[in-house]
Amino acid sequence: MKQIDRFQALGLFDSRVPRYTSYPTAPVFTAAVGDADQAHELQALDPDVPVSVYLHIPFCERLCWFCACRTQGTQTLSPVESYIGTLEQELKLVAPLLPKGLRMGRMHWGGGTPTILPPVLIHRLAQAVKAVFPQTADWEFSVEIDPTMVDCDKIAALAEEGMNRASIGIQDFDPLVQQSIGREQPYDVTMACVEDLRAAGVSSLNADLVYGLPHQTPERMADTVEKVLTLDPDRLALFGYAHVPWVSKRQKLINEKTLPDDRARYYLAGLAAEQFHAAGFAAIGIDHFAKPGDGLEAAARTGHLRRNFQGYTDDSCPTLIGFGASSISRFAGGYIQNAPATPAYVQRVEGGHLAGARGHVMSEEDLMRGRAIEMLMCEFRLNRAGLKQRFGTLAATLDADLAQIIAGFGDLVQLDEGALEILPDGRPLTRIIASCFDAHAPEGVRYSRAS
Ligand SMILES: C[S@@+](CC[C@H](N)C(=O)[O-])C[C@H]1O[C@@H](n2cnc3c(N)ncnc32)[C@H](O)[C@@H]1O
Ligand code: SF4
Repeated sequence: MKQIDRFQALGLFDSRVPRYTSYPTAPVFTAAVGDADQAHELQALDPDVPVSVYLHIPFCERLCWFCACRTQGTQTLSPVESYIGTLEQELKLVAPLLPKGLRMGRMHWGGGTPTILPPVLIHRLAQAVKAVFPQTADWEFSVEIDPTMVDCDKIAALAEEGMNRASIGIQDFDPLVQQSIGREQPYDVTMACVEDLRAAGVSSLNADLVYGLPHQTPERMADTVEKVLTLDPDRLALFGYAHVPWVSKRQKLINEKTLPDDRARYYLAGLAAEQFHAAGFAAIGIDHFAKPGDGLEAAARTGHLRRNFQGYTDDSCPTLIGFGASSISRFAGGYIQNAPATPAYVQRVEGGHLAGARGHVMSEEDLMRGRAIEMLMCEFRLNRAGLKQRFGTLAATLDADLAQIIAGFGDLVQLDEGALEILPDGRPLTRIIASCFDAHAPEGVRYSRAS
């Protein structure tokens, strides 16, 4: 059987499994966890261990048709300004609960489009965060940037506040593909943005690309990748287009007849990966690439790569505190998500309540399964010996899943006393294999496809 037929038989094109940016995944969270748990977790933080802070800006000036992010279109700044006021309020609610001396090791602004903020709001928000969370000496500040929604003044304001990493959305450079996803973004504008970011001192630059978009062909994909390489990014994310019109209604604007089919998607991803490899990038996890020496590549090489809500990261802070509508915090005890819809989030915070509205308390077994899944997603290798050392006899709970994986995936994996390894030929199936350890897979939730 041809390899691609075997992958198909094993569910590569039909499985709907999570991307495991957390375990359990957000659809499993319930309202049994909320603001009281959030207060307890914040008060229990160890002041000597720095935290990561995430700020969510759910606004965009344009709403790209392909985008599955929870974000709201706006042509005026007034809702954005009012939202920044709510974020300041949320920071004030959190501040008195934090232990004295706690520091922030990382800050990330995501969205939506954080660069919808004009300089004055950039400074206001950054200062509000820093007033609550003093920074560590090696603090890092990363921002998601839409190259068509930023200018020199915004970049200067972000750099003044300490931005040293940036991630730009590209998706595809081909004009027909761009038109068919409702996102026009000339190469020149993108290049000018990259030059401004570099001049402002951004030392690590990521670019997001997407395969599986309407009208993408091998020629167009190769051309996009070539253009992307001329921008000289340090990292690349190559996401498979998640067509989920039942979640993201604007995707109904996309003509499904123009989407590449399963096999075409698979080849497009492989083609781009080959081009990145030939240009000297190391493959990281299931969908990232990084230049040798970049932090992500170093983390992958030394076994320190982690998975969080932004995807792959070299962030070692165990705690992530999220601010803004729908943001998810990760604490020692589990996950807590702020009210997902912006009006509900605003109502809670303006009413003087912490915004945590749902979540999940981690059992010891959840921690173990989460770590097992993270190991596979990051290293394609589940270190059984390491899990036994950390979780003791509980690690034996995974034996039935391991047996199921061996029975199902045969020579694509290798199992011994020390580890389960997904061999290079089996790596396209990583999400499906990882899902065998998921004891929470919720009934009736439709994730995006596995390929
Ligand atoms: C929150 S968006 C922020 C990007 C920024 N607003 C911009 O437009 O450049 C982050 C990334 O998610 C990815 N993304 C959004 N919708 C997607 C989808 N339906 N399938 C795959 N990736 C998607 C895109 O690559 C996008 O750059
Ligand atoms: S891709 Fe970026 S700009 Fe476009 S809708 Fe999504 S978040 Fe907004």
